[in-house]
Amino acid sequence: PILTKYVDPLPVPPAATPRFVRGFSELADYYEIAMTQHQHRFHSELGPATVWTYGMKGQPGIYLGPTIVAHRDRPVIVKWINQLPNDPNTFPLKDSIDPTIMGADLPTGRAIPHLHGGKTAARFDGTPGQWWTATGQKGPDFVTDTFTYTNEQPAALLWYHDHSMGATRFNPYLGLAAAYLIFDKVDTGTTINGQKVPSGNYHLPIVLQDKVFNSDGTLFYPTQGNNSVHPIWVPEFFGDTPVINGKAYPRLDAEPRRYRLRLLNGSQARFYDLTFDHDGTALPFHVIGSEQGLLPAAVPKTNLLIAPGERFDVIVDFTGLPLGTKITVKNSALAPYPDGGMSDIPELMQIAVNTPLAGADLSVPAAALKLPAVPRLIPTPHLAHREVVGQETADPATDTPIGVKFNGYGSMDPTTDFIKAGSTETWEWINLTGDAHPMHIHLVSFQVLDRQPFDVDGYEAAWDAYLASGRLPALKPVLSSFLTLGPPVPPAPEEMGGKDTVKAYPGFVTRVRAKFDLPWTSVLDMDFRTRTFGTYVYHCHILEHEENDMMRPFEITF
Ligand code: C2O
Ligand code: CU
Repeated sequence: PILTKYVDPLPVPPAATPRFVRGFSELADYYEIAMTQHQHRFHSELGPATVWTYGMKGQPGIYLGPTIVAHRDRPVIVKWINQLPNDPNTFPLKDSIDPTIMGADLPTGRAIPHLHGGKTAARFDGTPGQWWTATGQKGPDFVTDTFTYTNEQPAALLWYHDHSMGATRFNPYLGLAAAYLIFDKVDTGTTINGQKVPSGNYHLPIVLQDKVFNSDGTLFYPTQGNNSVHPIWVPEFFGDTPVINGKAYPRLDAEPRRYRLRLLNGSQARFYDLTFDHDGTALPFHVIGSEQGLLPAAVPKTNLLIAPGERFDVIVDFTGLPLGTKITVKNSALAPYPDGGMSDIPELMQIAVNTPLAGADLSVPAAALKLPAVPRLIPTPHLAHREVVGQETADPATDTPIGVKFNGYGSMDPTTDFIKAGSTETWEWINLTGDAHPMHIHLVSFQVLDRQPFDVDGYEAAWDAYLASGRLPALKPVLSSFLTLGPPVPPAPEEMGGKDTVKAYPGFVTRVRAKFDLPWTSVLDMDFRTRTFGTYVYHCHILEHEENDMMRPFEITF
């Protein structure tokens, strides 16, 4: 359907409200959040769509669930209540289930919330096997439905979304994704380091998604694949319609002042290269933070590349613009990124500077903001780099790519990554594919070290020989002998803060470093038999990739 642009106001998701528990609310915020099916109109010209979302228990569900507002070191406890229908015949995307992709035989009403970016004990992490249903079925890794998030981490925009085995490309698409904001003493939400920043109505989450709508307004997801091995699964889903905070092509009515926008790419597969377009020129803005907190300095930009799972904290300044000015948020990224030729979404939303100032803007201009230093991580001595080789697998008959594996393993293969608690490791994403992948590690905040171009064909031939040999150690390719195409490229300035998702470009090895610290609740997960603190996952955040087969478990040991 062709939709009239910029007629519906940009929704702002409401904050979740904790329940008061006498004698307990001094210690922690307690929430009861239900997952329900209901109807939502993505645009005033569209009929209602069946969606699955988070909502406060006992209140009607809303698309883009409530924002959980948390404070550093103050625990948030959520009792998640699955009230989703568990009937394969009425599952809204039932024709999109591919029998050859993991999880196809699991109950369609399964759900497991994961706090993306949270430093969370394994039992509360929401890994794919921890799902359960409204009708009492439980996944193999189910422990509890009541999760403790200790918030032992700096102020940042995290998000919570469904992570069910084999349904992570469906459930968040239907709506199981929402924002989670942490504040602390440095970033209080009204000030940063004591300096005023835009707050209240001038501080907004901007959650970017893309969808395809059927003519009646319901959500469409592909029902036909591109290869004979996986007849229904698609390698990437790209919508033709942008949805921001739950509305297609919304409009934000703004005042001529500074706004703090918390961008989150919640799309399945689409990268966005964003500009704030003002009559053909890109309005300058500043990036002050990324997934895991503030940058060491505000970074002036005119465009910003954001991959699925990434977040950026941005200050845009409309000060002095005459009322009536229209700013269009535009996108120039190709899909798949960077070299694909698929349908793109050139425009996302409009900011109409049409509202007189309600009061003076007392916030400090972003360029003058003093941000706290971000000390660089020191690696644990004598630890080898952890290499993660991402390689496409092909249908032997037709040679079409049918999925991607890490280190030659599928996501259900046993753990091969064991990481000592408290160690600081360097990881290398060795990308042998033709596309960029947003690589995400649970539990940690990492730093981007660099990206280095290497001889992909040479490395891949050696890698194939190594796998064919049954992984003979002597044949394992040594990456450094293939780094023939140039020196390491330092991270972009907006990648100099804490991150949990990084763009791994084709033709490059992308290096990140993380300290694998645990939250105090991990005492519950201490297993003296296996000497582990439980299982986490790392994966590509392109949701179609994550489920075929770009995900691996890792274990924290002691
Ligand atoms: Cu946002 Cu493992 O996910
Ligand atoms: Cu990927």
